[in-house]
Formats: sequence, C-alpha cells, structure tokens
Amino acid sequence: MRERAKKLLEEIRKEGNYRTIRYVKPLSETKILYNGREYLNLTSNSYLSLHFHPEIVSFAKEALSSYGVGSCSSRSLSGSLDLLRTLEREFAHFKGYKRCLVFSCGFMANMGILPAITTPDDVIFTDELNHSSLIHAIRLSKAKKVIYRHKDLDHLEDCIKREIRGKKKGFIVTESIFSMDGDIAPLKEILLLKEKYGLYTIVDDAHGTGVFGQSGSGVEEELGIKGSADIHMATFGKALGSYGAAVLSEPYTIRLLVNRARSFMYTTALPPSVIAASIASLNFLKRNPKVIRELWANVDYVRERLSSLGFDLKDSRGPIVPIIVGSDKMALKLQRMLMSKGLFIQAIRPPTVPPNTSRLRFTVVRGYTKEELDYIVETLYTSAKKLGII
Ligand SMILES: Cc1ncc(COP(=O)(O)O)c(C=O)c1O
Repeated sequence: MRERAKKLLEEIRKEGNYRTIRYVKPLSETKILYNGREYLNLTSNSYLSLHFHPEIVSFAKEALSSYGVGSCSSRSLSGSLDLLRTLEREFAHFKGYKRCLVFSCGFMANMGILPAITTPDDVIFTDELNHSSLIHAIRLSKAKKVIYRHKDLDHLEDCIKREIRGKKKGFIVTESIFSMDGDIAPLKEILLLKEKYGLYTIVDDAHGTGVFGQSGSGVEEELGIKGSADIHMATFGKALGSYGAAVLSEPYTIRLLVNRARSFMYTTALPPSVIAASIASLNFLKRNPKVIRELWANVDYVRERLSSLGFDLKDSRGPIVPIIVGSDKMALKLQRMLMSKGLFIQAIRPPTVPPNTSRLRFTVVRGYTKEELDYIVETLYTSAKKLGII
C-alpha cells in the first residue's frame, strides 16, 4: 500500500496540488494560533462571527449537560432528538419552505439528494463551477450529467433543448452564491427556464444563508424569490457558526429523502450540543438582524478599498473575495508573503478551481475591526504589487 500511495502522491505533487494539514488553535472570532504565532484568519466562513457568541455557546453547553456528548446512533434507528424537531420547524419557517430535514453536513446533504430523487431517465444540468459535493452526488446518481458554462443561460437553454425530449425530466443544479468566486447565480432566470421546460431546480445556498436578504435567509430572499427552489440546501457551519446542514422542500420530497437518502439514513445523528448551537444561532439572528448589516459594512468597506487600489474582484459580491492570480506558483508565493505578515490564508488551486485560475480566497467577516481591515487591505496591496499581480 505504501508504494502505491507514494506513487499517487507523486502524481499529485507533479500536478502542483499537494496539500498538507495545518493545525491551528482559535484565539478569538478572527484570530488563530499557528506554529506558535498569532494570525488574523482570512479563511473563515463564519461570516457573522457568531461561533464564539456567549449566548450560543451557553445554549450548546446546556444541551451538553442535559443530552450528553453524542447522539450515538442514526436517526432512522434510534429516533430523532426533540431538538431536531425544533430546529427543522424553525429553519423551514426562516427559509420560507414547508419542510426541513437536517443532515450531518452540507457534503452529506448534497450527496443524499440527487441519488435519492433522480432516475436513469433524468438529466442533470449542472453549472461547471458547482461544489465538489454536487459533482460527486451527480456521479452517484444514475441520471445523465450535462455541464453548462458558468452562469451561461443561453448555453443552459441550448443544453435543455437538446436533452429534454419525451418522458425525460431535467434538474438544474446550482449554487446560489459560488463558494470560490463569490458570484451569484441567475436564480430568477433559472426559475423561468424551469417553468418553460417543466424542470426541477436544486439550489445550494451554503454561502448565502445568514448573509443575503433582509432577514439573512439567503440569496433567494435577496432576489425576491424566497422558497422558490424545488429543493434548497443550506448549511449551519458557515455564517451561522455551528455545524450541520438542512434540506428544504415540500413534505413528500422530504419524506422521500428520509426513505432513500443514504447519507441521512446510515450515519450517526449530529451531537445534541451542535443542534442546540444551530437553534441558538438562528434565534439570535432573528432577534438581531443588525449583525447582517454589520457584516455588510465590513464587506462594502473592503470591496471599495480593494477596487480603488486596482484589484479586479470580478463578479463577486458579499464576503467571498477572490484574488485571482493565475498560476499555482504565484498563488503560493502570495500566500507565503501574506503568511509572513501575520495573515493566515490558503492558496486555492485546481482541482478546487479550474486550471490557471489559482487564487487566494479571502473572506470578510463581521468580527474584524476597522484597523484589522485596513491592515489586511494594505498588506494585500503591497504584497500583490511586489509580485506584479496588480
Ligand atoms: C457550496 C457548498 N456546498 C456544500 C458544502 C459542504 O458543506 P459542509 O461543510 O457543511 O459539509 C460547502 C462547503 O464548503 C460548499 O461550499
């Protein structure tokens, strides 16, 4: 096995995609300790900086004392904790859907949906930049896969016209806001195509939940089409600062997932403290929507400053700021330079992103102070300038 693994690793190294694990310790909402040094963390998806919030931590601690550490069995086998019923009811209401089903994480939710819901007669139309969990879910399903160019509605419609004939049914699968590019999918137009051709839509709102829309329910709210997808997926592990995921839909679809989604049926349920943290986070957000505005104040400030300094932020909106560099080597150089200045960041390379679009993905979170934001912007600028990136 050792020789086989070494050979495969050699190939990964040659492709320039070799990864190592970096162990860190959080010091606060925005700072971490790595190799004995303090860093500002530029990689967190905790957009609302809630993961240390005392109210949420305390609710999780209470659940820890009264429910124990682990769930220790699957929901199908041992019943679902009453905490899950609370979370599912409240989250369905928040998202504008009739029903909600909690999964252990977003990856497992996505892996569960498509294989459960599609048949070999179906066609799945998938945006070329969709997340790895969606790509792998499509591979697991028996439906035909058709990849359309990123957010290209004309191409999508051409693909639909070519593929949808007779009894065939189609699914359009897209992220609402793309995790590596920070740009928003044309969900309204996709909805029109769905209606025109009698298709279904599956929307992954992992990075939109807690960030977009007045109440923070996500990108659909922002676009005025809340609750419009046939199946909607959201995660608790990003803006809500907890862990886990939810699939939202109408009752029969949820019942089907309970009966057929393998990643729901055959896995240990989330720990009670984590479910409690998600409930507390959701309740906190409902009572304090001002945290969304505080996040956006930081986002707007950074975006304005970076743009005026000459960074091309492409079509990105919101807290995900891609600094596209091109080559893997250059991305790694910029990463090293920023790390040496106390900014913890990760170069993102293929296969996570397409070839020649290696980048630094910097996330703006609510917890940064103005001084920290200025330091980040200025350090990004001087480093990128030194390397000739801007
Ligand atoms: C778009 C998207 N979908 C799904 C996931 C998976 O979610 P989780 O981290 O809860 O497994 C991610 C996580 O990075 C993501 O970015």
